[in-house]
Amino acid sequence: TPWRATVLTLFPEMFPGPLGVSLAGRALASGLWQIEARDIRASATDRHRSVDDTPAGGGPGMVLRADVLAAAIDAADIGPERPRLLMSPRGRPLTQAHVVELAQGPGPLIVCGRFEGIDQRVIDARGLEEVSIGDYVLSGGELAAMALIDACVRLLPGVMGKEASGAEESFSDGLLEYPQYTRPQLFEGVPIPEILTSGDHAKVAAWRRAQSEALTAARRPDLWAQIPPKAPNRPGRQK
Ligand code: ADE
Repeated sequence: TPWRATVLTLFPEMFPGPLGVSLAGRALASGLWQIEARDIRASATDRHRSVDDTPAGGGPGMVLRADVLAAAIDAADIGPERPRLLMSPRGRPLTQAHVVELAQGPGPLIVCGRFEGIDQRVIDARGLEEVSIGDYVLSGGELAAMALIDACVRLLPGVMGKEASGAEESFSDGLLEYPQYTRPQLFEGVPIPEILTSGDHAKVAAWRRAQSEALTAARRPDLWAQIPPKAPNRPGRQK
């Protein structure tokens, strides 16, 4: 049984959306993964199919009802094995390590928040783990869920070609990617760095490593601080 994302949303028509094209879309069509978008509103019980109500204690906006969302989660009938995530800007910041872990499991249930929030009692009662994709606010969890799913799907066996295994890229070693070049050799008078066309693979690797390190130190001091300092050169045999 392939990796599967079960998405609970008020806008199931948003899926698969961008996940239906390109790398993820081809893998979806090949059966390498599955997506099930379920309408939370299908679990509403009253005449008007209402899913939200005014916040207790007052204030602006609307809050997703605990009873409706709990019924939607229960109706999805996922086993105890699958992670239960709630996309939310107050969640644990998503990292590549977390993505790798999710991609290695059976695939998560993902609740997409809307409105001003979700009744806290359903988050607690159904053990939802809140996940954020960054410190900015989207109008709903759907785009965040798609980002998380895309990051997982590209790591699934058979999705990426061998040339880009995912192991040798940004964040797997905690560094930003080195710059890439291709033809033409001369672009608006600027040549490709000479080392890259030298054919010396060891020199190329050392140059790329140095570029990655310089970029990471300059742009992402937070990541750079996590990189262990290089071991001092041990005295080697002199010639
Ligand atoms: N929903 C709204 N904003 C979000 C964010 N930054 N991350 C995850 N879910 C969200």
